Amino acid sequence: MSVSVNWSYPTSIRFGAGRITELADACKAAGMERPLLVTDRGLAPLPITGKALDILEEAGLGRAVFSEVDPNPNDKNLAAGIAAFRAGGHDGVVAFGGGSGLDLGKLIAFMAGQTRLVWDFEDIGDWWTRADATKIAPIVAVPTTAGTGSEVGRAGVLTNSETHVKKIIFHPKMLPAVTICDPELTVGMPKAITVGTGMDAFAHSLEAYSSSFYHPMSQGIALEGMRLVKENLPKVAADPGDLDARGHMMSAAAMGAVAFQKGLGAIHALSHPVGALYNTHHGMTNAVVMPPVLRFNRPAIEARIAKAAAYMGISGGFDGFYDFVLSLRSELGVPDKLSALGVERDRIDEMVEMALVDPTAGGNPVLMDRKNTRALYEETI
Ligand SMILES: NC(=O)c1ccc[n+]([C@@H]2O[C@H](COP(=O)([O-])OP(=O)(O)OC[C@H]3O[C@@H](n4cnc5c(N)ncnc54)[C@H](O)[C@@H]3O)[C@@H](O)[C@H]2O)c1
Ligand SMILES: [Fe+2]
Repeated sequence: MSVSVNWSYPTSIRFGAGRITELADACKAAGMERPLLVTDRGLAPLPITGKALDILEEAGLGRAVFSEVDPNPNDKNLAAGIAAFRAGGHDGVVAFGGGSGLDLGKLIAFMAGQTRLVWDFEDIGDWWTRADATKIAPIVAVPTTAGTGSEVGRAGVLTNSETHVKKIIFHPKMLPAVTICDPELTVGMPKAITVGTGMDAFAHSLEAYSSSFYHPMSQGIALEGMRLVKENLPKVAADPGDLDARGHMMSAAAMGAVAFQKGLGAIHALSHPVGALYNTHHGMTNAVVMPPVLRFNRPAIEARIAKAAAYMGISGGFDGFYDFVLSLRSELGVPDKLSALGVERDRIDEMVEMALVDPTAGGNPVLMDRKNTRALYEETI
């Protein structure tokens, strides 16, 4: 991709292939002299991570890395990360990875200077004002997947290691000061992660677009976000080295996250309990539950989805859009049922209760209740 641009919306974004070389400069721009690079266990030994550390070291910023980060990171990962941050005398975090590394990096920067428990900052009302904002360390975000959009978000998702419930932790200053979107970093993703993360980006835009809240800015971004996924996800799945399409997927991921300030919905509400109980991949789980949720929401979103279909070059209104989702899933090898991800029927009761209190449930255009949520799980497992 030949495009190389600087954006300042919603934060400072350096977008373009090869721009990881600007990592040290980005850290300095964010006011860091001793950054801690936070990533997950899988990424830590890979060459892209080694190169990022080389860049920091060569610029005199040290070579510190913390990688005790699980997929769906938890409070134990956070406690170990905070300890590493304090012990190393760090003054900022390079959050490097997919949603797991990005979120845990952001949470370490947020929590390292706080005295309260992380759960006191769940995304409820004005709980974030409980934090001492002067103690939040700056963050440079470097996404290596194209899905969660956490690189442009103000929240981190953390799993409670005792209850297995995922909580959204929010503070406006968790928005990274600088983000580097370098599509070359995403080329080495395993195919299932390319597909899963891409479908997560699509789910963010689709759910934001479908939610009934009034937010025209998000509405516009969500529409173009969906179109970019439609045009580019099949390309990157077929040809991992297609940098043009990889770049568009990075944009779509960031756009989905900007858009979902409007709200998410039943796809995420059903998917979060599954991820928490079975440790499935977040985006892949979303992709499995997407068609039943579209059918469920149809009475509320039919006209709106028909408009989206027309914009995306899909004929046949809502039905055409629904068929497009089904064929995209089968082209990408997404399974039809949650049972293919190891989910079993004996935990439906538990999942229903978790889905109903999930913060994303309230954004769904059709009210979720015990009966219809159970029916959705029953038809999807
Ligand atoms: N903060 C938010 O707004 C937000 C939104 C959605 C999801 N999430 C969270 O994000 C997490 C999921 O993130 P994800 O889907 O990006 O997956 P991930 O970060 O868990 O990564 C998945 C796997 O891919 C590997 N990987 C990542 N990039 C790679 C690369 N370039 N090359 C090779 N391997 C690579 C990782 O090592 C890991 O094993 C979940 O915990 C979810 O709750 C956060
Ligand atoms: Fe998501």
